[in-house]
Amino acid sequence: MSQPTPQTAAAWLKKVSPLRPKLAVVLGSGFHHALTELRVVEKIAYAKIPGFPKPTVSGHAGELYFGHLGKTPVLVLSGRAHFYEGHEMERVTFATRTLAAFGVTDLLLTNAAGGLNKKFKAGDFMVLTDHVNFMGANPLRGPAISGLPCFVDLTESYDKSLRELLFKAGKISKLKLQRGVYLAVSGPSYETPAEIRAFAALGADAVGMSTVPEAIAARQCGLRVAAVSCITNLAAGISKENLSHAEVLETAERVKKSGAGLIKNFAEFYENHGIDAS
Ligand code: HPA
Repeated sequence: MSQPTPQTAAAWLKKVSPLRPKLAVVLGSGFHHALTELRVVEKIAYAKIPGFPKPTVSGHAGELYFGHLGKTPVLVLSGRAHFYEGHEMERVTFATRTLAAFGVTDLLLTNAAGGLNKKFKAGDFMVLTDHVNFMGANPLRGPAISGLPCFVDLTESYDKSLRELLFKAGKISKLKLQRGVYLAVSGPSYETPAEIRAFAALGADAVGMSTVPEAIAARQCGLRVAAVSCITNLAAGISKENLSHAEVLETAERVKKSGAGLIKNFAEFYENHGIDAS
């Protein structure tokens, strides 16, 4: 049997529900609590969706939801395939391409990240203004995909009007959102203090192990993208403590209600402000 394509997966999903959301949200650490705000219409394990890779990291469920945040229809992806798990970039971006084939036009990516900017504290949220791809791989590398550009412009990877909606959502959620540049590494080891000093000199405000492949693939497919990081820890050498996954999870747990509120309010603004689909 031939390998499922994102088009196969999208056609399969269309049979699951008549709901046709324009907005999709990918939940990373610090944001899974948003599911408590979701009025679920359908819940599907990734394992059932043709071609979807199964996340292997504990605490990342691997479920796709059709539902509503407030009045806004959404597709929510709880859990993602990471490059550090050993997946090829094609697998890492499969879900993003499926969303595009499904007809989603706007994508909100969320993640956990370490803070480099001296003004950041653990528990802050940062809206991405731009990124630096230090993963050592580009998700568009490979044979050209028919109908899609290969040399994709990333001058404005993160859409201005979606970013504004995030700041509005932050305001009514009573959250002061930081903004900055996210630098993506492959992981899964954390960085050394020397790497963090180098990344800071390059202009990074936060560092993490996801999001950038999805953002690049989404831009290739013509989706508008917004992204927000939960700063779960100060990066290596900036923090006085050594880094641990436990600290990342602890902070994510501490601020989970803020992350959930931010996403819900963003979705509501999205519906009400009618981002035009041009
Ligand atoms: N580095 C890389 N990825 C991360 C970090 C970090 O400090 N915190 C959460 N994800």
